[in-house]
Amino acid sequence: MTWMTDFWRSSIGGKATMAVTGLLLFGFVVAHLLGNLQLLKGADAINNYAKMLHDLGPLLWVARIGLLAVFVLHVATAIRLSRANKAARPVAYVKGATMQATMASRSMVLSGLTVGAFLVYHLAHFTFGAVHGADAALKAKGAGGHDVFAMVTASFANPAIVAAYVAAQIVLFLHLSHGMQSLAQTLGCHHGRYAPMVKSLSVVLALAIAGGNAFLALSVRLGIVQGA
Ligand code: HEM
Repeated sequence: MTWMTDFWRSSIGGKATMAVTGLLLFGFVVAHLLGNLQLLKGADAINNYAKMLHDLGPLLWVARIGLLAVFVLHVATAIRLSRANKAARPVAYVKGATMQATMASRSMVLSGLTVGAFLVYHLAHFTFGAVHGADAALKAKGAGGHDVFAMVTASFANPAIVAAYVAAQIVLFLHLSHGMQSLAQTLGCHHGRYAPMVKSLSVVLALAIAGGNAFLALSVRLGIVQGA
């Protein structure tokens, strides 16, 4: 086990961990968005999708625990790398590329913390039903006592909740687009003539994900989805 912690503590090991865990989390947000798009097809589609997930039983728990472990590793490595960066630079830079890199990594920490705070709120909202009375909406109408469509549409009829979700997507966009460029740097393909292509691709992918989530959050207010 010590070689693993030694690797994790090394500079390249830390970057590789960020890249792999970041890619796995990225895969989750893509899959989650594709599943949530069922909302546009109506109540049966999203409720059947949620039921299919819940019916996975123990397998769902394995996936949840795996996701949590990946998330914790991503955050712990980010904290370690940012501390190591600070320790290696006791005097602040005045200007130049190194300062730009420092600013970028600082903004990643800030946007990451904000996405983390959104996640706590989001889980309290939809998974635990602890805020906005979502629990009542979830249990009110579903045949099996589990109506995700009613819960989501009742929530997104509230402009304050929509505003919170859309604001979080702006930060998620920043985090994903910067994160993908860091990943390309770790993989050694973010330089020279590839740099503009990597930047455009990162922005387009991040926009598709954050924009898709924001679109879902706005769908009820825009009249695209009729509430239950
Ligand atoms: C408008 C956008 C979103 C909608 C409509 C949405 C909807 C939902 C719903 C309904 C659940 C509960 C599923 C259930 O227990 O039946 C859920 C869980 C979850 N969501 Fe989202 N979500 C959105 C955006 C996001 C984003 C941006 C992230 C990550 C940054 C995220 C991460 C999670 C996680 C980690 C869970 C817990 C999964 C589990 O319990 O297995 N969601 N979401």
